[in-house]
Amino acid sequence: MERLQKVIAQSGLTSRRKAEELIKKGKVEVNGKIVVELGTKVSGNDYIIVDGVELKKNDRKEYYLLNKPRGVISSVSDDKNRKTVVDLINTDSRIYPIGRLDYDTTGLILLTNDGELTNILSHPKNEVEKTYIAKIEGILSSEEINKLKRGISIEGRKCKPVRFKIRKKDKEKNNSMIEITIVEGRNHIVKKIFKELKHEVIKLKRETYAFLTLGNLKSGEYRELNIKEVKKLYSFKNY
Ligand code: URA
Repeated sequence: MERLQKVIAQSGLTSRRKAEELIKKGKVEVNGKIVVELGTKVSGNDYIIVDGVELKKNDRKEYYLLNKPRGVISSVSDDKNRKTVVDLINTDSRIYPIGRLDYDTTGLILLTNDGELTNILSHPKNEVEKTYIAKIEGILSSEEINKLKRGISIEGRKCKPVRFKIRKKDKEKNNSMIEITIVEGRNHIVKKIFKELKHEVIKLKRETYAFLTLGNLKSGEYRELNIKEVKKLYSFKNY
């Protein structure tokens, strides 16, 4: 069972925020009855109509690995009409990204119409590792490196990288490249970590997601996952 607004958003029909508005306005029916409660739980067998449109159940599951370019938004639609990651994939299915990369972040992002896999990969306890390359202003001091090793408190919750290493230090240009692996999914987490250390992130790229890498994909290119990869992603399910 899933929350109604999430199911609507995952169908690709609209964003979660708009789905919530539609529910509150009495525009959503579940099994013939108007539902205005935001927390309502629904299952795959429920018959849902949103603003007169029936939510189609997607039968064929699709899985894409995209090398997200800068200047593309990680959602299904955008109020400001900016290009979305979904616009870059040639499919008629209602796919959506698993998690987010910021507008200016590049790199590996998965898209699918498989809600079950999305939930598995998004559950913090399933600890899916993501590796980022962050170009930061300045050079980390040994004190800052130790702080990062111990974990950084972000909004009252500690974030401890699984591992990190300094790939490059440019003393002349006063910047460095840090490879950092985290299991966290909180929005802007890498930027927040370095902000705490008083080093601004100049560029950010996600290089890996679980065992998946970008391979030869150029910016804006994508490929479908194969069945082996999908099964392996399902095996992250502990919770
Ligand atoms: N952390 C960030 O700060 N931004 C991203 O896009 C992903 C992780």
